[in-house]
Amino acid sequence: MEYRLLGRTGLRVSVLGFGCGAVGGLLVKGEPREMTATVARAIELGINYFDTAAIYGNGLSETNLGRVLAELKADVLVGTKVQLAATDDEPIATAVIASVEASLRRLRREMVDLIQLHNPLADRRRPERRWVSVEDALRAGEAFEKLCAQGKARFWGINGLGETAALQRAVAAIPAQTIQCCYNLINPSAGQAVGPDFPFQDYERLMERATDRGMGVIAIRVLAGGALSGLAERHPNALAAVEPIASGRDYAADVAYARRFDFLVRAGYAGSLVEAALRFALSAPTISTALVGISDRQQLEPAAASAARGPLPADALRQLDAMRAAPL
Ligand SMILES: NC(=O)c1ccc[n+]([C@@H]2O[C@H](COP(=O)([O-])OP(=O)(O)OC[C@H]3O[C@@H](n4cnc5c(N)ncnc54)[C@H](OP(=O)(O)O)[C@@H]3O)[C@@H](O)[C@H]2O)c1
Repeated sequence: MEYRLLGRTGLRVSVLGFGCGAVGGLLVKGEPREMTATVARAIELGINYFDTAAIYGNGLSETNLGRVLAELKADVLVGTKVQLAATDDEPIATAVIASVEASLRRLRREMVDLIQLHNPLADRRRPERRWVSVEDALRAGEAFEKLCAQGKARFWGINGLGETAALQRAVAAIPAQTIQCCYNLINPSAGQAVGPDFPFQDYERLMERATDRGMGVIAIRVLAGGALSGLAERHPNALAAVEPIASGRDYAADVAYARRFDFLVRAGYAGSLVEAALRFALSAPTISTALVGISDRQQLEPAAASAARGPLPADALRQLDAMRAAPL
């Protein structure tokens, strides 16, 4: 397993990170022994970063991860998240502190390595989507700083989802140490320039802006929630209906779009579409760790084997650039 520096945190994280969200679903809906065996195997394979959130399975992901890591007596890095209601009901600092205290109890920890703001960012609050403003994120950051000073968290970060202009402003203004960015074969705009005809949200190379500021980048959605397997069927542990992030109008559209990357497999650059997608993410030098939402142990093994093969060859990346430059 390759390890990369997570920005100025100084932490060294495995390039493959373990996603404990509801999309993959193992840590939410899985069978308890399967959770333990899969996490144990992940650690054996060298994975040292586990990503969860208070809202995944309404606390279940944290509870299960806490149990499994305690059982395994595992010394790994754990990141979790706080989601604000995005209303005026409660002061941000109060909400942040209450959420983190509850997360620590569920995780059976006195401290998390990384606490992140889960809400996407926008020009102004949009409570119906739980999007918050950059100013809200600054306030959440102040509360995170206090929690770090109290020894309840080591580092803190923000979410690189939401409106592009707000995200660009946030990266310049917020002294966060990490950011989670959506990056995949379908939408690589957080890592590379895309033309004006690009059909999805253009993140305007957010990952570069973030690393220029010393932030560590955690890539999310590297398999587009599963669409980059090229198959519409979902695993029983996985979320039945995945809402795309910054890609097609629905999951089926993403699956159809994903098939245009089959040429990477036909040309022998990768053994499967999943391998191509994962190695594409690892090809971005700005990414410290690429999370994969895991549904079961059978998905973990190929993901780790793909990561071991490293970034895609330069020739494959050139062909991808040429494909994107060509008119549809
Ligand atoms: N900050 C945020 O707001 C945010 C948003 C999204 C995700 N995240 C984080 O990122 C993590 C991963 O992202 P994600 O869960 O959205 O999606 P993802 O990693 O892009 O996709 C996960 C899906 O990929 C499929 N998959 C995984 N390994 C596979 C394999 N070896 N072969 C075939 N299919 C495979 C599974 O689908 P099937 O089981 O149906 O095959 C799984 O549900 C989450 O757990 C979470 O920690 C954060």
